[in-house]
Amino acid sequence: MKTFVLAAAIAGLAMPAVAQDFDAQLKARQGQFRILAINLGILGDMAKGEVDYSAEAAQDAADSIQAISMVNQPPLWPEGSGADSRDGTRAKAEIWGDFDDFTSKWAALGEQATALQASAGDGREAVGAGLRELGGACKACHDSYRASPN
Ligand code: HEC
Repeated sequence: MKTFVLAAAIAGLAMPAVAQDFDAQLKARQGQFRILAINLGILGDMAKGEVDYSAEAAQDAADSIQAISMVNQPPLWPEGSGADSRDGTRAKAEIWGDFDDFTSKWAALGEQATALQASAGDGREAVGAGLRELGGACKACHDSYRASPN
């Protein structure tokens, strides 16, 4: 037991010297964007009339988007986890050049998500209007901070 604890302690101490891969942070942040996109798709189909409007389904989707927008971002974006440092991410180095601007764009998404949550039950057109605003908040961040796929 003692040997194990000692070995674990040494392994723990040695960790900072090993390059960190941040796989968990990448999965978490990319997963949250997928949840956003899936729910945006549900609302988009209703707004376009491809799926019948349902106040309940619209509310569920808007609630999920708003809940994701509450996730605190800094722990998901450690320095060294951008596309300049590793594969598997489209996060531009510019994120860490102005991290306050990056998080303010997340906060802007939160405002639109809260507005959409309040109007999702008001019919197809209200959902469409709210979605346009929300989509603008997604785009504003992607334009500056997400690299195009390659
Ligand atoms: C504050 C900035 C920001 C906001 C706001 C934002 N995104 Fe993103 N998004 C990013 C960045 C940066 C990436 C790349 C993340 C990575 O690859 O590590 C990304 C990646 C994605 C991906 C790809 C995920 C994957 O599987 O790799 C999707 C889909 C996406 N965003 C959708 C959205 C949608 C939909 C919204 C709005 C409802 C949104 N994003 C709002 C910055 C943002």
